[in-house]
Amino acid sequence: MCGIVGYVGDKTAVDILLEGLTSLEYRGYDSSGVALNIDGKVELFKAQGKLQNLRNIVQNNYTQISKSTIGIGHIRWATHGVPSIANAHPHTCNCGKVAIVHNGIIENFKELKVKLEAQGCTFRSQTDTETVAHLVASKFAQTHDLTEAVRLATLEIEGAYALAVIHQDVKNTIVATRRNAPLVIGFGEGENFVASDIPALIQYTKKAMYLDDNQIVTLTPNSAKVIDIEKNEIPLKVETLPWEPVALSKMGYKHFMLKEIHEQPDIVRNVLSGKLRTMDEPISLDEVTLDKAKLKDLNRIQIVACGTSLHAAMVGKYIIEDFCGIPVEVEASSEYIYRKTITDENTLVIGVSQSGETADTITAIRLAKKKGSHILIVTNRPDSTMAREADSLVPVNAGIEVSVAATKSYMAQLISFYLLAIYMAEVKGSISKEELMDLKHELIVLPQKIDKILTHKEDIQKIARKFSSFKDFIFVARGINFPTALEGALKLKEISYINATGYSAGELKHGPIAMLDDSMPVLAILMKGKVYEKILSNAEEAKARNARMIALTDSDDQKLDELFENIIRIPEISEILSPALAIVPLQLLAYYIAEFLGKDVDQPRNLAKSVTVE
Ligand code: G6P
Repeated sequence: MCGIVGYVGDKTAVDILLEGLTSLEYRGYDSSGVALNIDGKVELFKAQGKLQNLRNIVQNNYTQISKSTIGIGHIRWATHGVPSIANAHPHTCNCGKVAIVHNGIIENFKELKVKLEAQGCTFRSQTDTETVAHLVASKFAQTHDLTEAVRLATLEIEGAYALAVIHQDVKNTIVATRRNAPLVIGFGEGENFVASDIPALIQYTKKAMYLDDNQIVTLTPNSAKVIDIEKNEIPLKVETLPWEPVALSKMGYKHFMLKEIHEQPDIVRNVLSGKLRTMDEPISLDEVTLDKAKLKDLNRIQIVACGTSLHAAMVGKYIIEDFCGIPVEVEASSEYIYRKTITDENTLVIGVSQSGETADTITAIRLAKKKGSHILIVTNRPDSTMAREADSLVPVNAGIEVSVAATKSYMAQLISFYLLAIYMAEVKGSISKEELMDLKHELIVLPQKIDKILTHKEDIQKIARKFSSFKDFIFVARGINFPTALEGALKLKEISYINATGYSAGELKHGPIAMLDDSMPVLAILMKGKVYEKILSNAEEAKARNARMIALTDSDDQKLDELFENIIRIPEISEILSPALAIVPLQLLAYYIAEFLGKDVDQPRNLAKSVTVE
């Protein structure tokens, strides 16, 4: 969804911009560009494809380019117009004096374009963003004030944006603004920064301010002034970021995804730490502010999320219903927002989001908030828009996740749901003391079981090699592991581009079975419990159609040896906690297949980690 970065100070701007863009690569990677003021002239450098291509261009002109101490940069995930040099940001006006980078979507760009063309503007790209460059230039022609030009332009644009703008005639100044897209200012000594996200500036400063919607900042090396859209000055709210400058290092692993899969035992410990103290003490969730009396009376919960977070939410539904007896509905945020949504003050609405910036989920929770619901956010980013708008928060503490395919954040979300459900059950008194003790004990020993799977990862690697040439893949499960089947399939399709689908095993015979023959691997998730025998029968049906059968199980049942060509055995675990263990081999399977196929594991084509457009 595009990342933007800006720097004004006394250092070589392009180095800081490229570093910043590297740490924002998770937001998009189909093209990139920078605009710099070199010897009093705005110059653009752009490249199609990965950031490395831009680095190469910069390298070839470095002597000239390195003189500039002001600039803006962009990494793109295409929405309007194909990935190309013409469509890559920064965009400029006719005279080339204004340069602009944008994250978001300008919804009324067509109307604006017609007007601007009538005024003589010539468009060179297919993007929505270019309209803003022309619009700012036309407002600047009237006002000769860049901040005022940007303010007047934003009064006319509709949609979502984080913008950073420079103008050739306004020396050493960046103007930036936002509406429904993230933007943070970083304050240094004799230098200032602006970026879509903290990793772009954390290695230079820990002093930052999150800009609110419709605020405009004017940055020079020694000043930062924020105003709102009515021109009222806003006092600077400088926060010290709790982040350490994270070396975004693979720590010896070939890919971030593999490193992040291996971090999961520690992530579980992190999430539990301070919340699950002793077996006898109730779970403590300090940032859940929902009144306990109200919690007891809740008669409905709705959970909204997208992608992997949606799968965590589906597991959350099972757990909350099981522990608390409260009906839970789970819906993709993008569906929730465009129908007559029935939500009220007696409904708890939970938003789940790794980034806390997913546009559809933000819109969904805002909608529910307007109707009076208490909003609880489960997020990995306590500094995000969602967290800031939440009534209650469950921070998931997974640390920065670099790989686009989510792994450790999914694990952290699952553990957060266990904690939340136990917390609610303890308030409601809806599960027995013995059951609670068992659950807490199992959570505490979970990291060791994950470690055990990771120690035997070569077994999964072998299966991955064997099945890597298949074009399609089916994952089946039932009950609480149905979301595990969906997530396993999602991981595989995201990074290997294999057509993988997750089905509820009971649904196999209502259609998907027609596809089965010896060219179709079927991976059945068979965790001991209520639905074990049922899935076994469904697997028999698939085997009878010659499908290539793989089992993922915690059972040592000998029957499985006849039915399955390959068996991935994992440590025994209670059915209710099994999603947190069963997902690990599926992450590894997806990883090794993609790696064997030579795919770009950490940055799969067409995807972005943070989807800040609807
Ligand atoms: C994108 C990412 C997914 C993620 C989804 C939701 O599609 O590629 O990995 O699950 O967005 O993101 P969120 O930050 O809200 O969890």
